[in-house]
Amino acid sequence: MEPVNVREYEALAREAMHPAAWAYVSAGSGDETTMRNNDAAFGQLEIMPRVLRGVGSASLSTTVLGAVVEHPILISPMGVHGLAHPDGECATVRAAGNAGTLMAVSTASSRSLEEISASATGPLWFQLYVYRSRQFAERLVRRAESAGYRAIVLTVDSPRWGRKERSMRVAETLPPELDYSSLDDEDLPEEEFEPAALTWDDVDWLRSLTDLPLVLKGILHPDDAALAVEHGVTGILVSNHGGRQLDGVPASIEALSNVVDAVGGRAEVYLDGGIRRGTDVLKALALGAKAVFVGRPILWGLAANGEAGARHVLELLRDELEAAMVLAGQPDVATLDPDLVMRRH
Ligand SMILES: Cc1cc2nc3c(=O)[nH]c(=O)nc-3n(C[C@H](O)[C@H](O)[C@H](O)COP(=O)(O)O)c2cc1C
Repeated sequence: MEPVNVREYEALAREAMHPAAWAYVSAGSGDETTMRNNDAAFGQLEIMPRVLRGVGSASLSTTVLGAVVEHPILISPMGVHGLAHPDGECATVRAAGNAGTLMAVSTASSRSLEEISASATGPLWFQLYVYRSRQFAERLVRRAESAGYRAIVLTVDSPRWGRKERSMRVAETLPPELDYSSLDDEDLPEEEFEPAALTWDDVDWLRSLTDLPLVLKGILHPDDAALAVEHGVTGILVSNHGGRQLDGVPASIEALSNVVDAVGGRAEVYLDGGIRRGTDVLKALALGAKAVFVGRPILWGLAANGEAGARHVLELLRDELEAAMVLAGQPDVATLDPDLVMRRH
């Protein structure tokens, strides 16, 4: 039977995937406290609905950095979709286009960024890891520009990789799909692909390198959000990397409001981490996110049923969001406000 919610895809994906690939996708770092909290923290927030407003349907369409999307549920950048399905990111990007949304494409994709953009019908952003070789980063930015990507998403929470224990146990048995086609034609020694400890100077450097808008992904502290705006960043993705980097940091939804306040409308703010229900999306939007990104559930859909599965995951979240808005008396994603959300006592 076709899943009726996103969580049901998790079990299907687990059955469909190689055990080592499943470990890699499902892992968080350390005790996985942050990963669990990303999800659980949404349960600590309650929606206070309004009634008798004549709201029989809701408008979900919005823009992100000027790109029109049919709904504010976008796809987080994730490496190696090839672990979930042989068509990898090419299937995911078709699902994104058919669901009327935007996908952020990872530096660590199993398909080249050009191949992915050739399969796309909707807008794409390129997620950049700046490794030790800055020349490599510059070449990737140029390739993303020529392939029509509309923004650079610099991931800033990864000066080294988090310790994902599920993955450490099975690393040597990872299937061969785990190679990164984007990096194929890059003739660099292995150590150049190690993460780099970036500074705000690197952000300035990236800003000077390209006219594409810059989004910083992995901000939790409001002071970092304010600094990001001072450094010319146009988007901030509040994220703890799905609990895969530093364990023990706040759930993304817990960090959102302070970031929104610090930014004060000077940049767009997005959130990812733990989005599993349309009501999660509603809460994040009410607390000031312009849009949310979804990570693992997309790979669950992809593993369970390829392009159609990834698309269905997006459609389930979209339909749940629309229903939740109607039931809460909210006609439009643009007019949600924080009064809609209460903390459970
Ligand atoms: C398998 C996997 C691979 C990921 N790869 C990347 C990546 O290459 N770059 C990046 O910035 N974030 C990466 N992330 C983090 C996601 O962009 C996102 O922050 C996180 O998955 C959101 O949480 P969720 O999975 O609970 O929705 C990855 C996450 C997963 C699960």
